[in-house]
Amino acid sequence: MEDRWMWDDSLRLGPPYRSIGFIVCLILGAWSAQALEMSVGKIPSLEAVNGSTVMLPCTYASCIGIENLYFNWQFNQSGTMKKVCESTIPSEEVEPDVTIFEDRVTFIGKNHHNNVSILLWNITFEDAGFYTCFGVNPKEKGRNHSAKFHLMVVEELRVVDNTLTIIIASAVGGAIGLLIGFMLLKNLTLFVLSKLEEKNKECLVSSSGIDNTENGLSGSKADSKPTPKKK
Ligand SMILES: *[C@@H]1O[C@H](CO)[C@@H](O)[C@H](O)[C@H]1NC(C)=O
Ligand SMILES: *[C@@H]1O[C@H](CO)[C@@H](O)[C@H](O)[C@H]1NC(C)=O
Ligand SMILES: *[C@@H]1O[C@H](CO)[C@@H](O)[C@H](O)[C@H]1NC(C)=O
Ligand SMILES: *[C@@H]1O[C@H](CO)[C@@H](O)[C@H](O)[C@H]1NC(C)=O
Repeated sequence: MEDRWMWDDSLRLGPPYRSIGFIVCLILGAWSAQALEMSVGKIPSLEAVNGSTVMLPCTYASCIGIENLYFNWQFNQSGTMKKVCESTIPSEEVEPDVTIFEDRVTFIGKNHHNNVSILLWNITFEDAGFYTCFGVNPKEKGRNHSAKFHLMVVEELRVVDNTLTIIIASAVGGAIGLLIGFMLLKNLTLFVLSKLEEKNKECLVSSSGIDNTENGLSGSKADSKPTPKKK
């Protein structure tokens, strides 16, 4: 009974709910004119030492899904855009065949979770600059979108003075510790108070209990409770 009801309910609510989501998605897409989105992450830059290997991160997102999504990575080499790699992704979670135009580049995202990141091996100072992750989704009337990633190549990483960070971190940690301690103390106090109150109530009940036993109230209550309901 229960199962059938749930099944019916999902049938009734499922499709309209999904199509509402779809319509909202279309409206949002049309309104922002950018349904497809390429993202290089929250921090779109990286400072790396020459000779190291870096990942240029990129993921795509599309609320109506993709079909033959074209994407490429381009490098802005003193004004001219040089293609690093390109491919067409038939559908989500299908590993695409990627054409690579540079020796030291590997496609590592493999379209796993919309991931089209690449690896740049043994970077040189000439590799520094802006990399663009570009995509076109034919399913969205060929809408395109791109995101820029800034790679900085340095001889050695600057030694960041961490003292202030550590001071702040320990201050924040200390404050949180104090707060937790205070909350625990407060809870403990409340607990003790509630226990005391309970005891007080018990005292009140037992003191007035003499009256209850006389008219048989407390006795009947205690008896009715443990009776299990069986059919
Ligand atoms: C990085 O560049 C410096 C200066 O050109 C050079 O001395 C060093 O060997 C380079 N490091 C690597 C790992 O290539
Ligand atoms: C990167 O450099 C190392 C050591 O020089 C070399 O063995 C390796 O093949 C290089 N990788 C690429 C992709 O060029
Ligand atoms: C993309 O794939 C690479 C390689 O598997 C991984 O290191 C990276 O974290 C992935 N990025 C995202 C955003 O999932
Ligand atoms: C990307 O789309 C814009 C319009 O949104 C268009 O002007 C531009 O030419 C497109 N770029 C490419 C490379 O297709």
